[in-house]
Amino acid sequence: MGVKGRSLEWSEEEIRRLGYAVVDAVAERWSGLRVEPPWRDATRAEVAPLLDEPCPEEGRPVDEVLRRAVEDILPIAGRIDHPRFFAFVPSSPAWPSVMGDWLASAFTIFQGTWLESAGPSQIELTVLDWFREWLGMPEGASGLFTSGGSAANLIAVIAARHRAGHPDQAMAYIGEQSHSSVERALLIAGYRPEQIRKIPGEAGYAMRTEAIRAAIAQDRAVGRTPVLVAANGGATNTGAVDPLHELADLAAEEGLWLHVDAAYGGFAILTPEGREKLEGLGRADSVTLDPHKWLFQTYEAGCLMVRNPDDLTAAFHIMPEYLQDTALGMEQVNFADRGLQLTRSFRALKVWMTIQSVGRAALEEAVRGGIVRAEAAERRIRDSDELVLLSEACLGIVCFRARLPDGVEATPEELDDWNRRIQDRVIEEGVAMMSSTRLGGRFALRLCPMNYRTTEDDVSQTIERIREFTRDVPVTP
Ligand SMILES: Cc1ncc(COP(=O)(O)O)c(C=O)c1O
Repeated sequence: MGVKGRSLEWSEEEIRRLGYAVVDAVAERWSGLRVEPPWRDATRAEVAPLLDEPCPEEGRPVDEVLRRAVEDILPIAGRIDHPRFFAFVPSSPAWPSVMGDWLASAFTIFQGTWLESAGPSQIELTVLDWFREWLGMPEGASGLFTSGGSAANLIAVIAARHRAGHPDQAMAYIGEQSHSSVERALLIAGYRPEQIRKIPGEAGYAMRTEAIRAAIAQDRAVGRTPVLVAANGGATNTGAVDPLHELADLAAEEGLWLHVDAAYGGFAILTPEGREKLEGLGRADSVTLDPHKWLFQTYEAGCLMVRNPDDLTAAFHIMPEYLQDTALGMEQVNFADRGLQLTRSFRALKVWMTIQSVGRAALEEAVRGGIVRAEAAERRIRDSDELVLLSEACLGIVCFRARLPDGVEATPEELDDWNRRIQDRVIEEGVAMMSSTRLGGRFALRLCPMNYRTTEDDVSQTIERIREFTRDVPVTP
């Protein structure tokens, strides 16, 4: 086939051959994951000379393009799905999710209007209804799939303010441990910084209801209008869950919208441990979930669940003339009316294919694995002389740091720096990928072992190596 002036069409034969080549590359990567290091980064100065180039005027042989993608580009990235990737909030998609992602894009499903995707729209409604049951939300609650938790938080913030009638001095109450995307959503929605109250947390890092109540009273006294409380259903730093029942009571008393950002933690509701922690989640007006975190989905798959989907339609529905054919009556949901996007991919397919293929029970078991591994890590940390626990294992996250050896003195800054150098060593030696955070102003090491491939050995060996590094890495360099 001549390369110059190549048509955009590919023959069926080529599609099959190249498609199988892609599957081979993926299978090889997945099966070799454990022997590769969990982390690979590079500076721009390192990658630009390798990858930056002028735009080609003519096409190149596609096999060569595929080879470059697989060998030269994709490996220069963190292996987020590696069994010892414990940093941030890992993602480890199940294979049916990958299949669903590919099918949805290759079948060019336009999931914005019912007219263009009746079957897919019904599947989205069906999967949302499964989520509704899991969360314990009332009949009629529903929502939409989004690109991720950030988009879901933004949609919730906008719907809440719309329901409140767009007051001039709208006030929002968020936790000190709220994810940055909540604050960003408020800023995008036009809240000024002084309209966003950050409520301090207590020792377990959860918001104190009384502190919000006091802030609400102060704000009302000066003519401001409280609109929204955004709680955590698993804070990214520590896994902390805010007192959801208390906050639901408060929101009901004060006529506020209760949003729960359960992007990472929400699917813990599948497990008995998670149900206990997330008690009251089903009472929220809206809940953010990220299936691309703890429901083992490919990027991108976020979700917003709302008690009353009419709140979304009221805030987002606009009917221009050129879409008049798509108005098919209320029964036929146009998902574009529920959020930001008109053109939407069929994200629900991959979630549906995963749940259909493995069943709810296997997902419960996989989520539980993350919770149990973090608890096992906590026990090891408590039992070790070299480490000190900073936050108890909660919804699959545990924070800790190295403890100064007896008789050794260091300033708080030196202690932070020592821990940072221990973290560097863990990553450099390919033991695991772990991230850090700050708790109470101090540097903390953080483990989030929620990948379904991760074993208890992966976690215990990592902690053993960290203990060794506390002896190898000098407190002051
Ligand atoms: C609690 C929480 N909320 C929101 C987000 C943002 O979600 P996304 O990255 O999917 O936009 C994250 C993580 O990324 C999170 O952990």
